[in-house]
Amino acid sequence: MCGIVGYIGPKPAAPLMVEGLSKLEYRGYDSAGIAILEDHQIEIIKRKGRLAELVSALEAQDLTGKVGIGHTRWATHGKPSHENAHPHYDCSKSFAVVHNGIIENYQEIKKKLIAEGHKFISETDTEVLAHLVEKHYKGDLLQTVHHVIGLIDGAYAMAVIAKDEPERIVCVRKDSPLVVGLGEGENFLASDIPAILKHTRKVFLLEDGEVATITKDVVEVYQKGEKIDKELFKVTWDAEAAEKGGYPHFMLKEIFEQPRALRATFKGRLNNGAVTLDEMRDIKGLDKINKVYFVACGTAYHAGLVGKDVVENLARIPAEADIASEFRYRDPIIDDKTLVVVISQSGETADTLAAMREAQNKGAQVLAVTNVVGSSVSREADLVIYTWAGPEIAVASTKAYLTQLAAMYLFGLFLAQERGILTPKQTSEITKALRELPGHVETVLEQAGKVERLAHEWAKRENAFFIGRGLDWAVAQEGSLKLKEISYIHAEAYAAGELKHGTLALITEGIPVVALATQGRIYDKTISNIKEVKARGAHVTGLVFEGVDISETVDEVIAIPNTIPLLAPILSVVPLQLLAYYAAIARDSDVDKPRNLAKSVTVE
Ligand code: M6R
Repeated sequence: MCGIVGYIGPKPAAPLMVEGLSKLEYRGYDSAGIAILEDHQIEIIKRKGRLAELVSALEAQDLTGKVGIGHTRWATHGKPSHENAHPHYDCSKSFAVVHNGIIENYQEIKKKLIAEGHKFISETDTEVLAHLVEKHYKGDLLQTVHHVIGLIDGAYAMAVIAKDEPERIVCVRKDSPLVVGLGEGENFLASDIPAILKHTRKVFLLEDGEVATITKDVVEVYQKGEKIDKELFKVTWDAEAAEKGGYPHFMLKEIFEQPRALRATFKGRLNNGAVTLDEMRDIKGLDKINKVYFVACGTAYHAGLVGKDVVENLARIPAEADIASEFRYRDPIIDDKTLVVVISQSGETADTLAAMREAQNKGAQVLAVTNVVGSSVSREADLVIYTWAGPEIAVASTKAYLTQLAAMYLFGLFLAQERGILTPKQTSEITKALRELPGHVETVLEQAGKVERLAHEWAKRENAFFIGRGLDWAVAQEGSLKLKEISYIHAEAYAAGELKHGTLALITEGIPVVALATQGRIYDKTISNIKEVKARGAHVTGLVFEGVDISETVDEVIAIPNTIPLLAPILSVVPLQLLAYYAAIARDSDVDKPRNLAKSVTVE
């Protein structure tokens, strides 16, 4: 995710910008840049790629200015490129702007500004801010920023400098974090505390709608144009903890970020009881599609398993889920009526890319579901749905998976809606249930303590089972992978009805089993399978909807809030992620970087 830094004081700002941005690298980014103000001129240096590229570019410069703003960009509007990197100038290079978040009405603003003669260089939403400041500036940057925020919708943390006001930086936040750090004769600005922690522990945490003007000696904060007294916040934690937002591991942080990530995936896509997926507008022959393949690896493949059920259930189109490394070599039957959906958090997984190319060679349309703008998959696919989970750092995928599931529902519902399979009332009921999911995930997360206690028992075992039917089986596979991947406990996921055809032989006294039973239609069948493992001594944790009384059948119960059974995977996987995490902690594993694994698998 993007990062912001700013400095004003007696020291050269450029090295401080680079140092601050380096503390934000953990958030993920694809370009970086700084703007330095000196002698009534603003110099912007920016580069696509790693911070090291920017550092090399700066070596050739002699920037001694003592006012600066900097940014690391994680592409949203427009690919990762030099032009799209921040900071952005206005036409006259009188202002420079950095921004995190999304300006939702930027297209209409941009159109107007272009008609008025403004020249745009980038594809970003951010650049409209620089031009808006230019248009409305009447000699007071603070007043101008107050005016501009009245014209924009969306989420933003923004900082602006003006060549004619070299004594201050003006910044504002709404729905995107921004802090002001207070030093002695110098002041700082950052989207995240780690960026400034080396210099100060005294900060103002800006609230939504607050605008700050920062000089080297004074920081003033305004709300609705009125100056306010801000309470000082003293940072007590260390830099490493701060990067993880106070969580001990990125994985736990990412698990707890899931409600926010889901909201981002749904944002703007669930409107008036229907699905809006502008990304699908260029799909060809929507009514002729007669087969959907979901193709992916690992966790993303598990999202595809859910996608298959969702598409068959909602849109009534035959669907398959395939592992990319198998699909690419098995000469699948594909033609121009086939839609291949490749799912990849990174968008760089070698097998997924190869499978996608194979599908395109055979004439299929390819839709990519990915988290990374500008990734190979997103560039080569015919259509792209971004999941907007934000950067995922832990090797074990959690929030990316949940948002992939969300994308599966949006996509399945879109197909059903456009092909007239569901009535508007049915569609509206599902969209309502989807909207409730982020809140329900928050409720599930409240049970972390209970899952942690259970995990301590699991951590003592070397084998475990996850069983379920239908969508529960798909989630069981993800739960099993998560446990193996980070705790190194051997786990099997089994279709509950298939156990007695062999695997039941492995069920012995005390072996831990999670039995998922959220699918009402086959609930009784699953209960029979639970009894089969209980009779052989398994220690069973039942995962059911609230209000379902399963306590007589199992040893432990984890309940998830009620929703439409089709949507249950988004909730039922969360306790399994926590179970894997806490079991791994109890076994002293390197949770964020499990042995032998890499975050992005770019080799076959
Ligand atoms: O970046 P991708 O989604 O294409 O990655 C696919 C798999 O490598 C990935 O999901 C992997 O299985 C995760 N480490 C599982 O947590």
